[in-house]
Amino acid sequence: MPIKLEHILKRVHALPSLPTAAVKVVALTKNPTTTVKELETVIGQDPALAAGMLRQANSAYYGYARRISSLQDAIVMLGFQVTQGLAMASAVAPMLKTTLVGYDIDQDGLWKHSMLTAMAAKRLCQYLKLSFGEIAFTTGLLHDIGKLVISVYIQEVNTYLLKKVQEAKFSYVELEEKVIGYNHATVGGFLAKNWNLPDDLVEGISFHHSPLNAPNYTELASIIHVANGLSSLLNTGGGVDSFFNPIQKEILDRLALKENDLERLLADIGEFLVDPAIFG
Ligand SMILES: [Fe+2]
Ligand SMILES: [Fe+2]
Repeated sequence: MPIKLEHILKRVHALPSLPTAAVKVVALTKNPTTTVKELETVIGQDPALAAGMLRQANSAYYGYARRISSLQDAIVMLGFQVTQGLAMASAVAPMLKTTLVGYDIDQDGLWKHSMLTAMAAKRLCQYLKLSFGEIAFTTGLLHDIGKLVISVYIQEVNTYLLKKVQEAKFSYVELEEKVIGYNHATVGGFLAKNWNLPDDLVEGISFHHSPLNAPNYTELASIIHVANGLSSLLNTGGGVDSFFNPIQKEILDRLALKENDLERLLADIGEFLVDPAIFG
């Protein structure tokens, strides 16, 4: 039986909010007049956030031989856009490192899948020469946050959903909609809005399983859609639904991605898995 919107929203509001500093960083890095000092001050107010960012910045993924030991270094060397991705990764990691029984996701599963999707989204943007790689990274990190909200409902109906998805022609998200009333992407959008995240992120999250329905940011939603598909192929921790949400052919056509492009991208993204520090 579909769950009432007010119940879903109650759960959305009950989830811890994102650290204010991380949300401020996203807004500040969108503004061209922001200075390094301003960013440094905002991040510096949240020592846990700053520490997490520095740890990430020194992982092999960012590829710096010299150690990045201060926030200022990180901001100057990596740039504003990478900084917002780092801030968001540091902010959401504790939230995503959780067991989601309904989706059959273990303690690190959602975090790994989200991080891999983020890196895949950024790589896809580079590959397609799209300018919003860092926003795609952050959207990738957050794309499945709705699962945190509806996992409790999924838990009760999961066996039913899986049975249905196997025998019917529905995708897993369509069944979430039918049974719960909302799918995890839509609910993730509610959550992102509640966290005051900008519209591009909200749409990228809300429409990652139906990019063509995104009113303004179809391209970003499409990138997240493909990145999610690629990371699901590589990462077993992405949840029981992963296999039942294939990449839509229409989206691949729109992005002019062919089979051999996907193979190359998969190989590139697979490289990220060799550094466990990235997922630490
Ligand atoms: Fe998803
Ligand atoms: Fe996903």
